Amino acid sequence: MLTISTIKADVGGVGGHTRPSTRMVQAARDELRQALDRGLILDYDVTYTGDDICLLMVHRHGNDNAEIHELAWSVFKSATEIAQDEGLYGAGQDLLKDAPSGNVRGAGPGAAEITFDETVKERRAESFMVFTADKCGPGAFNFPLWAVFTSPLFCAGLMLPQLKAGFRFVAIDMEHAGGDRIIELNTPEQHIDLAILLRDENRFGIKAIHSRRYKDQQVVAVSTDRLHTIAGEYKGKDDPVAIVRTQNMFPAPEEIVSPYFTAHYVAGDARGSHHMPLMPAPINTAITGAYCLPIVACQAYSVTHDGRLSEAVDVFDNPAWDSTRLKAQQKADEMRRQGFVGPAMLPIQELEYSAFRTSLEELEKKFKIVEKTEAAFQPAD
Ligand code: 13P
Ligand code: MG
Ligand code: MG
Repeated sequence: MLTISTIKADVGGVGGHTRPSTRMVQAARDELRQALDRGLILDYDVTYTGDDICLLMVHRHGNDNAEIHELAWSVFKSATEIAQDEGLYGAGQDLLKDAPSGNVRGAGPGAAEITFDETVKERRAESFMVFTADKCGPGAFNFPLWAVFTSPLFCAGLMLPQLKAGFRFVAIDMEHAGGDRIIELNTPEQHIDLAILLRDENRFGIKAIHSRRYKDQQVVAVSTDRLHTIAGEYKGKDDPVAIVRTQNMFPAPEEIVSPYFTAHYVAGDARGSHHMPLMPAPINTAITGAYCLPIVACQAYSVTHDGRLSEAVDVFDNPAWDSTRLKAQQKADEMRRQGFVGPAMLPIQELEYSAFRTSLEELEKKFKIVEKTEAAFQPAD
């Protein structure tokens, strides 16, 4: 069995919530190189998307493995020390608890992992994509994943014999603290039920998707921990990562990216409190747009049966995405024209900066109720 682990965290940014420093990324690479040399992992890559560092590790230890998670934690700790030394903003932002007992889930970093049998005859070659997004939550993946895995409008491949049987979705209630509160729904039959949940991107997210025809094959994993559910207060946006396996019995890369043409509006952005369109961007892009225009990057990889990663293709670093980038900026401009009103900002219960709520509470205290009096009512003759 091979495991692909992606673990992502924001542990400090240069000049604000922009990107990690070069030294931080290099330190992460060095530490994963040492883990490879001592045989813990088979291969790795380190990227950043906005101010989040993403560790990609290939290994044979399965999901939720203590050594792998402790390695990731140690990398983020080292990067935090560098961020502190360099005086960067938000050093250690996503490390919410003390050293976790062997699992970063619930401690701040986001983890998406898939373990699979690399020897099955149906998949002679293993290809997958890693989506990393900044300034949004895991629900940002609800629309593109639902679209590709349930609708031939976005993925004509769903009509093929090996995909026609559909998929088993595992959706999770991200507001629930403690154990995972999950529901399993089979598509195509239950795609409307799935939509009923996924329309609320702040509460429900897709945690995993499995093939129904090839029972043991998981195709998607998404990091679905929400920082505010863990910390009880705003500690930065959740900035998710997703793994999507591609080809054969799964949709093809070109189908999987098709919903990103939409530049759909997502919750998050500046202060984690607004709605803005999700802009596809090259890997290792800093956040510099107005109101933290959220970005998503996508790396496509192949991996050998003995766990060696190919070089990556930077999927959104291509002129094919230029018009979508322009569209995203135009959609962002339209939304920002109405400032704070209505859908421009998140509903009050979702405003991530608790201080916004404090401001409202102060005004709430000043409201008074004026009773209606009989005399004030003068019926017409
Ligand atoms: P991050 O979650 O990426 O740190 O962004 C936080 C923020 O509030 C940006 O305005
Ligand atoms: Mg940050
Ligand atoms: Mg971030």
